Amino acid sequence: MKQWLKNAVFYEIYPQSFMDTNADGIGDFKGIIQKLDYIKAMGFTAIWMNPCYASPFTDAGYDVEDYYLAAPRYGTNEDLRRLFAEAHARDMHVILDLVPGHTAYTCKWFQESMKPEKNPYSSRYVWTDSPWESLDNVDGIRGTIRGISQRNGCCGVNYYSTQPALNYGFAHVEAPWQHAVDSPEALATREELLQIIRFWLGLGCDGFRVDMAGSLVKNDDGQVETIRLWQDLLARVREEYPEAAFVSEWGEPDKALLAGYDMDFLLHFGPSHYNDLFREDNLYFSGEGKGDLRAFFDLYLHNLALTEGKGLICIPSGNHDMTRIAHHLDDKRLRLAYAFLMSMPGVPFIYYGDEIGMRYLEGITSVEGGYERTGARSPMQWDSGVNSGFSAAPPDRLYIPLDPDTDRPNVAAQLVDEGSLLNELKGLIALRKETPALQESAAFIPVCIDGYPLVYKRCDGEKTVLVVINPADREATCAFEGTLGNVLYCYGETPAAENGVLTVPACSAAYIELA
Ligand code: GLC
Ligand code: CA
Repeated sequence: MKQWLKNAVFYEIYPQSFMDTNADGIGDFKGIIQKLDYIKAMGFTAIWMNPCYASPFTDAGYDVEDYYLAAPRYGTNEDLRRLFAEAHARDMHVILDLVPGHTAYTCKWFQESMKPEKNPYSSRYVWTDSPWESLDNVDGIRGTIRGISQRNGCCGVNYYSTQPALNYGFAHVEAPWQHAVDSPEALATREELLQIIRFWLGLGCDGFRVDMAGSLVKNDDGQVETIRLWQDLLARVREEYPEAAFVSEWGEPDKALLAGYDMDFLLHFGPSHYNDLFREDNLYFSGEGKGDLRAFFDLYLHNLALTEGKGLICIPSGNHDMTRIAHHLDDKRLRLAYAFLMSMPGVPFIYYGDEIGMRYLEGITSVEGGYERTGARSPMQWDSGVNSGFSAAPPDRLYIPLDPDTDRPNVAAQLVDEGSLLNELKGLIALRKETPALQESAAFIPVCIDGYPLVYKRCDGEKTVLVVINPADREATCAFEGTLGNVLYCYGETPAAENGVLTVPACSAAYIELA
């Protein structure tokens, strides 16, 4: 494993909403540079930044127009290089967001590929050979663009209709217009992807979060060929950049780590049961105490065993695609959720603003393809000044409106309040970093993962830490043999062990060394 991923704690930054330094109402690279000291002081060791390339922004930048150019609204390639350098100077790392599966419809490759004359980009995308032959039933394709080109054919899309699908080939070729995975056409796309990766690593970036990583090859049952593609590509990248880290948006660690990724996210979609933690109707971290993490842990423990020694599982507090965690949990339960995140194996990710409990804004108008996700992408709340310190632009020029609540939380206020959520999280991050038994590869030993309380041991061979969490409004007990030692962390009342029973007070969390 890359040394720098050991004991890493990531912070996800949505660049348009983080910090605006030129009063145009939109965040920028200089704003992120300005806040690096804050991010570092929180204890974060690395940053994942959402796409920041030139784009028409029909999907917030996940529609890339030019992979080799920073979006002018955020700054220049040189500013980005400086961001990497400034982060490194603080012993931090920055990963970019790589969108390998599709481009923007405005990308010059797509403009070329729409032309009737054959040219080097004719096969860069997935095209049929008749405008009437749709791709709607192709596995891995979300829809069809038709009627916009002189070229005869339809083009497949991966997400929105503005995001034509790049051609990495078909696992099973079933029509004359489909290319095999190892055809020159499909391999040309793969080579370009390698160039893009090299380009940014060469400028100093430390790796990538990879968008829809499992989606590249079409008609790919079980993603067998997509896995092979990544194995090939990542092996070649690593020859040159052994320290570069790759994190997949896959949601299936068994596949992603086989593909050669260092880490994979648990996601709010797919099979991982991530939503059972903080987001379903009967979410576990609620006072009602009706949640159930059985299904979550069944799969998690299975994957953890498979990934051991090979890679890591990332559990995020949230991200730019889902409701904010504070939409579902009250202030107390947020602390319990963070005590969970900071004591699990793998690498935790905190979404910007979750450290102060920023709210999810319901019912706001979609911005740049966000739709219901827009409410989780509002400007960062830095202080109690104009626009919460995010921007000096007139409030109606902000890219997404601020949380209108006059009591909205902010960083400045929470920094000086010892009992704030921000300081709770900061303390938990510090504790994780100084306690090897809580870190990425220390053993995870379930004690009670059925109902309430949630109890597990983390052990690094030297020390064993018992993690005890009870989000329910009522006391909860479980069978437990052992002697409680030094309490490293406690929120709420302290649990007690007696006569083979662990009694855990309502709404509490603790990390306790075992004697
Ligand atoms: C990923 C991104 C999401 C984007 C989609 C299409 O799921 O996280 O924001 O809209 O891919 O690229
Ligand atoms: Ca700006």
